[in-house]
Amino acid sequence: MGKVAITTRFFPEELERLKEAGHEVRVHEGKPLSKAELVEFAKDAEALIILLVDRIDEEVLQALPKLRIVANLGVGVDNIDIDAATRRKILVTNTPEVLTEATADLAWALLLAAARRIVEADEDLRREGFPGWTFLPKHMGVDVYGRALGVVGFGRIGQAVARRGRGFGMTILYHSRTRKPEAEKDLGARYVSLDELLRESDFVVLCVPLTQETYHLIGARELSLMKREAILVNVARGPVVDEAALAQALKEGRILAAGLDVFEREPQVHPELLTLRNVVLTPHIGSATWATRRRMASLAVDNVLAALSGRRPPTLVNPEAWETLSAQA
Ligand code: NAP
Ligand code: GLV
Repeated sequence: MGKVAITTRFFPEELERLKEAGHEVRVHEGKPLSKAELVEFAKDAEALIILLVDRIDEEVLQALPKLRIVANLGVGVDNIDIDAATRRKILVTNTPEVLTEATADLAWALLLAAARRIVEADEDLRREGFPGWTFLPKHMGVDVYGRALGVVGFGRIGQAVARRGRGFGMTILYHSRTRKPEAEKDLGARYVSLDELLRESDFVVLCVPLTQETYHLIGARELSLMKREAILVNVARGPVVDEAALAQALKEGRILAAGLDVFEREPQVHPELLTLRNVVLTPHIGSATWATRRRMASLAVDNVLAALSGRRPPTLVNPEAWETLSAQA
């Protein structure tokens, strides 16, 4: 039976499933591991269940010769060198679908909070007390209902965000790598170029994966195309946005506000952003609900149990590795 190394505190029932299947389980609790610590911790492991803060590169893979599967607790796999894993016939899995709605909810929460200045209003009320109802109060916001929503990256989460927009009577624009005719029909969404989306949307929500193509997809030029009253929401990955350019645009009022769950250099946040009131910040908690995290843990364990018993894992990211393994069997 296999050795499974898990780099995070985990649900006991999921640890039990691994043990009942006869696997030896090792769990790291506490701060994220450095690369050297990760290699030491995972020594001899055949399966690794990791967080998106664990970077799995060629060097790590080379140092773990027994490894058969890397199961990521998250859908984005930009923390893993997939090509290097595939070359070594190591299966890589992620946790799509099960976190889609929770992440779309968080995107929506950021959008509403930024539009209606909820965090500012709450902070001020606690600090200064309720000044009494006035017709034109300090925390005047912008409408959400019936306005234009632009979704960049029209996959699972992007479409879930668009569904919320439909409920708010919004016009839906999207930009994605490939067109989605089904979703266009179902959601009444219109495909546009990125520039057109930025020019026409009142709310821009980023839902793309981090790749070479999406690094700094939104920089100073793109921000300058947005409306002055527009709001940017990022639940994708921090480096999709040039954070310094965004901080500057928010400071100068070139866009109205932003809602950010992800940051360019996590866990650091651009110091300028921390001083601005027109940005709502959450610490990468898109999928952080109890039910969703349970489903993610369960799916990661399903993937590990499958791989260690020679079955194809349900949410495989690199089918090429599986095909090579199957051809050799
Ligand atoms: P998905 O279903 O694969 O959707 C991603 C979409 O982005 C796809 O439609 C894809 O196009 C499109 N895309 C890829 N490259 C693009 C490019 N260069 N320009 C425009 N569109 C591009 O993935 P998902 O499940 O929705 O997750 C999306 C991302 O959200 C993840 O990769 C992760 O980084 C992030 N995420 C964050 C949190 C959080 O806690 N904040 C939680 C979950 C996920 P195709 O359809 O053509 O492939
Ligand atoms: C979270 O950021 C994920 O990619 O699931």
